[in-house]
Amino acid sequence: MTEAVPPPPTPQPPSSQPPSSQPPSTPVAGPPTTGPPIAVPPPLEPFTPGGTTALGGEHTGLGYSPAMAVRTLGLTKRYGPLVAIDDLNLNVPAGAVFGLIGPNGAGKTTTFSILATLLEPTSGSVEVAGHDPANEAQQVRGRIGFMPDSLGVYDNLRVEEYLEFFASCYRIPRTEWPSLVDGLLELVDLTGKRQDWVDSLSRGMKQRLSLARTLVHDPDVLILDEPASGLDPRARIELRELLGELQTMGKTIIISSHILAELEEICTDVAILEAGRLLAQGPPRAILEQLGGTRTIQVRLGDGSTRDYTVGSDAEQQALLKRLIVEEELPVTEFTEIGAGLEQLFMQITEGRVQ
Ligand SMILES: Nc1ncnc2c1ncn2[C@@H]1O[C@H](COP(=O)(O)OP(=O)(O)OP(=O)(O)O)[C@@H](O)[C@H]1O
Ligand SMILES: [Mg+2]
Repeated sequence: MTEAVPPPPTPQPPSSQPPSSQPPSTPVAGPPTTGPPIAVPPPLEPFTPGGTTALGGEHTGLGYSPAMAVRTLGLTKRYGPLVAIDDLNLNVPAGAVFGLIGPNGAGKTTTFSILATLLEPTSGSVEVAGHDPANEAQQVRGRIGFMPDSLGVYDNLRVEEYLEFFASCYRIPRTEWPSLVDGLLELVDLTGKRQDWVDSLSRGMKQRLSLARTLVHDPDVLILDEPASGLDPRARIELRELLGELQTMGKTIIISSHILAELEEICTDVAILEAGRLLAQGPPRAILEQLGGTRTIQVRLGDGSTRDYTVGSDAEQQALLKRLIVEEELPVTEFTEIGAGLEQLFMQITEGRVQ
């Protein structure tokens, strides 16, 4: 991992955001169309570098909450008559792996774009790492790493140059680039592609490069819009491991995905959105219990036979295990929970509404 502590970034993350989502006051930094040298922009005013502490909050009107990496209150975004996000109250605990789940058009990318300073909300309050993305974009950008749902197109740029470009945007001294690029490429397993053209990479490799780019300035909060999309099974597992590693380093990770089983393994919290509305939020298990959802327990016995039981809570699950072993003295060799996952939760909560 990078040890770089960046001064403030000015660049717009090179995303595939819809053109209308770019606030007029934040020009997009364009990459060079040929290889190095890459011009390093002049330094900006000092700012508090990234780290895993000191979430602020004093400028957002939401009050101070070091425990929350991201909060929204009454967040609403309209596109003409369409209400893409409707009165959204999100609470993302610092250090969480927070899954934003929702069907196509639910408002996930719109929410992420607002958090990432790329889109202004119609109304409501937002706090990201203690700052308001609309009024303190600079501070927010220094603290977040945003991975859009697809990599922007960069003609005539090699993998190494691509990361160097972002290192320069984040004012990381040129002397640190080689070790920074080495570390990032190793982290995402692209060391062998260092001199390849970015647009020659496979989709999965572009995803990994995009993730590496979000880490260039060692941000506290990672906002990843469908990072696993296009990855092969091995790469997915590796991504999961990588996200686990980043969480251990104290980063807050907000992630969207349609592959719920994937989120299930890594998410400490989820929010379920449908047609712009928040349907549920919290640890998946807590949501399931609140909704009175059931889960199936499969028990395998010594002779290889299996039995299925239905339970409604952790307490019932514990009681079942005790009953089978202590009271019935059954030779239980496996006690596995099946079908209690996010997918079930998602199907239970959403109605398939699209707007
Ligand atoms: N720039 C825009 N102009 C008008 N409508 C938009 C714009 N961007 C998004 N929308 C609409 O806002 C709603 C939410 O879109 P969004 O991209 O946030 O959904 P999503 O949850 O990310 O979906 P997906 O799972 O398909 O990525 C959709 O109805 C979409 O058509
Ligand atoms: Mg989306």
